[in-house]
Amino acid sequence: MAKFLVVANWKMNPASYKEAKSLLGATKRVSEAARNVSIVVAPPAIYLRELRSLYKGKKIAFAAQNTHFDSMGSYTGDISPAQIKDGKVSSVIVGHAERRAAGETDEFIRKKVAAVLNEKMTPILCIGESIRNQDGAHYVFVKAQLIAALRDVPAAKIPQVVIAYEPVWAIGSDRPMQARDMHEMAIFIRKTLVEMHGTVGMNVKILYGGAIDETNAVLMLRDGDVDGLLVGRASVQAPRFKALIEAIAEA
Ligand code: PGA
Repeated sequence: MAKFLVVANWKMNPASYKEAKSLLGATKRVSEAARNVSIVVAPPAIYLRELRSLYKGKKIAFAAQNTHFDSMGSYTGDISPAQIKDGKVSSVIVGHAERRAAGETDEFIRKKVAAVLNEKMTPILCIGESIRNQDGAHYVFVKAQLIAALRDVPAAKIPQVVIAYEPVWAIGSDRPMQARDMHEMAIFIRKTLVEMHGTVGMNVKILYGGAIDETNAVLMLRDGDVDGLLVGRASVQAPRFKALIEAIAEA
């Protein structure tokens, strides 16, 4: 059976390296007991390399939360795909809604996806609409985001991409999207990928993100037609993340 993928997006947490080490320790313990889950931890960039080299297990992979698209240069405050790769990190979150809100354009995201693939890492491409109403415009929006980010990716590399569908209205809220709505969106995303890149599009992993916690993770995995979850707040509170992973492991 394929394992569920859970990405722990720590965002700008915790406040100190000491706490980050302890959170990683707790995440490591729970990862070892959960056979059907693979965990990817995305810590703040300043902790990433050190946590990666501290970690000696096999169950957790590491991701950067963002990257520049160039390999080096005059970009104050940025880190490059080559630097991330050099830190033995295997994935990069690209186009998170919080980065898009800070001004990141589709053009940047397209270049970042290509640059991450070029370093043989996995881009975790975040997409999702800000508002949703009855007219179905969110499908048009999501399709445009997929085309903008992936149109230059050769079909052979498409299965290396992970799509994290995160409706912006659910991120940071107290309730996720309904699992049956996610099911429809997952079908739509797959159909769009197949239209763009052929049947390899069926092999792309699709995650859901936005207000996932220990109470709703299993339902989303069971009924949402997704391969995993991207978890923000509940991933930085060790007891909640433990309960979330244990719920998936027991389901
Ligand atoms: P949340 O964040 O789980 O805190 O809603 C999800 C995300 O933004 O990745």
